[in-house]
Parts: sequence; C-alpha cells; structure tokens
Amino acid sequence: MSTNGKPGFGNARVATADEYFKRVRHTAVRGAHWAGEDVMATLNELGKDPIRHAERRFVSLINEDHAELAGASPGIFIGVQLIHPGELVPNHRHNSVAIYHYLQGEGTTTVEGVAYPYKRGDTIVCPAWAYHEHAARGTEDTIMYVVQDMPEMAAKRTLFFEEPQGIENVRHMVQGTSESWSATRDPAAEATPV
Ligand SMILES: [Fe+2]
Repeated sequence: MSTNGKPGFGNARVATADEYFKRVRHTAVRGAHWAGEDVMATLNELGKDPIRHAERRFVSLINEDHAELAGASPGIFIGVQLIHPGELVPNHRHNSVAIYHYLQGEGTTTVEGVAYPYKRGDTIVCPAWAYHEHAARGTEDTIMYVVQDMPEMAAKRTLFFEEPQGIENVRHMVQGTSESWSATRDPAAEATPV
C-alpha cells in the first residue's frame, strides 16, 4: 500500500523535536468549581430511576477547559455516586485505582473478598484490577465521592474493565470495542433492580 506516492499505511511520519513538542503541547486549564447543590440535583434525578443499576448512578465532574484526558482535571476523574439502601453494586474490577470517600450512608465495600464496613467520613481505596462491590444498608442513601486515574489510562488505550465479573466480560475501553461500561450487560437485566 502507498500513501501520497510513498510506501506505508498513512499513519506514520517522522517529526523533528520542534514538531513533536508542538504536537504534545496542551491548552491551559483553569481551576474549576462545582456547587454541591448542582451535583446533588443531577444525582437525585438519577436516583428516581428505579431500573438504573446502582453502578451507573453517578455524575462526573467535568472541566470543559480540556477535551483530552476528560475529567475534573486532565487525567483525574471525580465522580459522585448514589446507592440506595439495599442495593448492591455487583463485583467487578478495572485497572484504574479507585478512592472512595463516603459523604453519607452506611454499608460494606468488599475488596478482593475483604469486607470493609463504611460510614460517613470513611475512605476506602481499591487497588488496580482488584475485585470490589458495594452494598448499601441502613436508612440513608450512600453517597460516595470517587476519584480515579482512569482518564489517563483511557487516553493511552490501556483502560480495561471486567464488569460484571467474568473473564468473558473483560473490555478494552476503545471505541469500536465497547459502547460503554455496560456494553456486555444483558438488556433484560436492566428491568430488574439489584
Ligand atoms: Fe468500580
């Protein structure tokens, strides 16, 4: 195959150092502020959906100053997740690290078979590629503030998920291989709250 009369596949070229550093230079990013009432307004709307699985019921804090490495800041994902009492986020894993800080509620987060009880003010870390699940109990909704390093992995095409548990459900987060985190879920299961 040839491109522009030259041999090759059209996506390879040789660049000078100046060309390279212009290519990798990124736009400036400002600080950002998200009001808690805005976060909770969207989250509470999601919470009204009885068929939405608890693992999908989160909002992401996006900084619109950058499109690449999408998140609150380039490479840093912040999410706020709502789990109703009695719900279970089923066992799954991803190769991004997850830091959970519990703003409200009580229950158990299990990491690699070790059950950690949580309550307001606690923090739990889930290492990369560790199986984990969340079970909310009590009377209050569980609200988790979640920080992950997944945007950088996604940008490098090295982000993997296994969700739900099962090696057949491992997905590479690349367009064309996965519509979303829930690409392999059985649509019929969506009608059955967990
Ligand atoms: Fe997770």
